This record gives sequence, structure tokens and C-alpha cells, in this order.
Amino acid sequence: MPVARPDDLPAGRDALMPPDAVIAIDGPAGSGKSTTARALAERFGLLYIDTGAMYRALTHAACGARVDPGDEAALAALLAGADLELRPGRGEVTVLWNGRDVSQAIRTPEIDAAVSAVSAHAAVRRDMVRRQQAFGRRGGVVMEGRDIGSVVFPLATAKIFLQASLEARVERRLRQFRLRGRELARQDVARDLAARDRLDSEREASPLLVSPDALVVDSSALTLEQQNAACARAALVNPALDRELDTDLAPALRELPAHYRLAYAVFGALARFYGLRQVGNEGRALPRGVVVACNHISLWDPPLMGSTLHRHPVRTLAKEELFRPAWPLGTFFRWLDTIPIRRRGYDRAAFAEAAAALQAGQNLLIFPEGTRRAIGTPGPVKNGLGILIQATRAPMLPVFIRGSYGRRPGGSALSPLEVCYGPVIRWHALDRLLDDLDPKTVSRRIAQTCEAAWCELQERSYARHPRTAFEQEQGGRQQVRFAARHQRLFGRREPDAGA
Ligand code: DC
Repeated sequence: MPVARPDDLPAGRDALMPPDAVIAIDGPAGSGKSTTARALAERFGLLYIDTGAMYRALTHAACGARVDPGDEAALAALLAGADLELRPGRGEVTVLWNGRDVSQAIRTPEIDAAVSAVSAHAAVRRDMVRRQQAFGRRGGVVMEGRDIGSVVFPLATAKIFLQASLEARVERRLRQFRLRGRELARQDVARDLAARDRLDSEREASPLLVSPDALVVDSSALTLEQQNAACARAALVNPALDRELDTDLAPALRELPAHYRLAYAVFGALARFYGLRQVGNEGRALPRGVVVACNHISLWDPPLMGSTLHRHPVRTLAKEELFRPAWPLGTFFRWLDTIPIRRRGYDRAAFAEAAAALQAGQNLLIFPEGTRRAIGTPGPVKNGLGILIQATRAPMLPVFIRGSYGRRPGGSALSPLEVCYGPVIRWHALDRLLDDLDPKTVSRRIAQTCEAAWCELQERSYARHPRTAFEQEQGGRQQVRFAARHQRLFGRREPDAGA
């Protein structure tokens, strides 16, 4: 599937924007996010949420209570006890801290100077992200900040990364303050913005970064109208591509080779027997040439997950051990066009075959954690996913499976058996990332995108059916066992999921 550029879209397609869309706008201070986010909210009939205002409100309260911006525990406690409300209206959002309107007070150079330090604390971010997700979970929002696409809404309808040169941003900040009657020195503003860029990008917890699936808009040389128009076009790219997905399933079914039909009949019967539920996959056809990336908790995953793909021939990557003995297992897997992969080291032949399949428009089901993982903590994803995606540019369909673990997988009160589909993720920013970063770092970003998608799908699943005591207990016990298995299989300790 080609990676569309915002400029390829014809005008007048606003109706494509779903009413429950989430548009994430991230970028450095002064890049024009607020103005554009407000404009997009108005244009598409969505709610505007300024997450920077939330961090500013906490900073303002901390200054008032004489809490040190470096004191994580005190800041987290201050926030935990606070009623923080954003009230959208005409113009800027009204920000209420414990019922008091602080909308004006949070936009001073003093707050500017302290807010990056306050927002760098992991405990503060955890609480803020929970509040932001609650604002937006029902959908229909334009949310701006630094980590909206990467952390708050990894499955956003559109992720826009708005950037501008330091000179352009300094000019805009000076104009903003001038309008409020304050004249600032240019070099002070430039120094503060550069310092905030550094703090926001280099902090450990959710730093400002370009997600590989973001649409990057550089507004340095654009007028406000041009910037808003470019972002509106960018926001419509995924909805437009989604609409082009072929949802007519009949031809796909007719074309399905007989042996696939047989396999799917068996897998389907198994899934029905165990009471498997599908979420987010209603009547949807798979686009061609996508990587279906599923988390892995049980040997039942491939047939159970595979049963939900029953309208398409899907190739799978499977560990080479499964092909031994040659009969009947090896024959069965070859019959289903499964690609054997050696898990230790880099299996060049397997990757080449998988990439060729994707480039020929076939779909590929993979379990990118490389081995089974503990329940409740999907990931970490190995480098293979990123290597494959860099080689093919194939879009990714994240899928989360739950409840397949146990002597009698799923369908019981012990663990609901669910396969949850995310949206198709397209790698709009891949070329831009490869200009600046080495391929290994880009692979990690792709891996993080997949991990974040699974975590969000898992949270949504827990929201429907809370995590059971069985899952909690199993997950805890498996952590240690699976870490040891990872070391045995791959000959080294596993990397940190967030590294
Ligand atoms: O967008 P702004 O300048 O109002 O944001 C104020 C600060 O808050 C900014 O320095 C970084 C921080 N911030 C953040 O860390 N994460 C967000 N989602 C939004 C803002």
C-alpha cells in the first residue's frame, strides 16, 4: 500500500472524518499546535483539549504552594488531590484548578520557565495521562501536547507532528506576548524555547518524539491559513485510506484456496467451541500486504487468532522447531505456506521470504515478541518487526489476544477469550526518521508503536471485562519463568520494553 502524502488528497473530504475521531497533535513549544488544534476541532466538530494547560495548571499550583518543581512526590500528591477541569469555549479553553479559573495565570514567562521540569516526572505524567485518556476515550477530540500520539492515544485516527524552526517559533511567541501587552527580549525567548526543547525531548518519561506513524507538517514558512489547511489534509489521510480498503468480502472468499478453507473451518470450529469473541473486526476485510502483529501468550494463539482471519490466505512466520518432525507437522505447516524462522540470531532467508510475500501483496501474521510472554504485559517487541517494516513499508494491523492461556483456553470466567483488532497503522514518518536516526533506533520506535497499540487494546478489553484474578495471578508467576525462557532461547537478557 502506498504511503499517501497529505497533498495527494482532493479537497472537500471533511465528511470522511469519523465523529468519534481522535486527532493527536504533538510538537515543540511555539510550533502553533494550539491555534491549529482549535481550528481543526471547529472544522470537524470535535472537542479541543490542550494538555499543556494541564501541566501549566499544576506548575501554577506548585508555585503557589511553594512546592519545588524537582520534588516528584510532592507534585504527584498535589495533583492527586486536585480537581482539574478544562472547559472548552470560544477562543482559549477555560482551565479550572479546584474550581478556580487559572486560564490567564498559567500563561506567563515564569510558568513557561518551570513547566518543563514539572512535566518531566513519571508520577505526574501517569496521573495526567489517565485524566487525558478519560477526556478522550469516548472519542471526538483534537488533543495537543508532546506525547499524545506516542503515549496517550497510540491508536489515534490521525497523529500530526507539527514542527517549525526555532526562529519562526521565537517570532510567534514574541507576537503572542505583545498581544497580551508584554514586550520580551528576543534572546531571552530564544534561550527559553531552546531550553524547553531540550528538556521536553531528552527527558526519560515520554519524551517529545516523532512517532513513525505521524504525519509531519513543517509550518516554518506557512501562513496560519496554510498551516491549518495542511494539518486538516494530514488529519484526513488515514480516514481516506481506510475508506479505500476493500470491504467487499465475497470475492476474497471465492478466491480462497481449498486448503485454506479447510484449515479455517477447523480453526473456526475450535474458536466457536472455546467461545472466542472478536472486537473491532466487524465485517472488515484485511487490506493487502499488511503485517498482522499479534501478542503471544499461548500455543493456541495461531489457530485461534487465525480463525478470525478466515476470509484471506495469510502467511505466518513460525519457529523452525514446529517443522520437525517432517511428517505430519512439517507437512501441515508447509501446506499452509508457513515460513520457518530460526529464532536465535538473524534468519536472513526467513526475512527475505516474508518481505517478498508482503511485497507481492500477501498478508503476514507474525508474533513479534519472538516467543510467548506473560499475561498482562504485552511486549517487548523484537527488532524483527522493524526490520521487516523498513524493508517493505508494509502497514501494520495490531491485534491483541486475551484468554488463550490455560488448560481450557478462554470462554470461561477464568479468562475471557477475545481477539481485539486495532486500526491499520501506516508508517508516514518512516523516511523522515531514517534521515535522522540509525535503522536500529527506528526499529525500536516501530516496536514501541506496536507495544503501545497492544497496551491500549488490552486496556479497552479490561474496560469491557475487568482483569480476572486468574489472569493477575498467572501473569505475576509467568514473568520470572518467561524471562528465563527468553534468555535460554535468545542467549541474552531481554531488553527493557521502554528502552
Ligand atoms: O504546549 P505548552 O507550551 O502549553 O506545554 C507546556 C509544557 O507542558 C511543555 O513544556 C511540555 C509539557 N507538556 C508535556 O510534557 N506533555 C504534554 N502532553 C503537554 C505539555
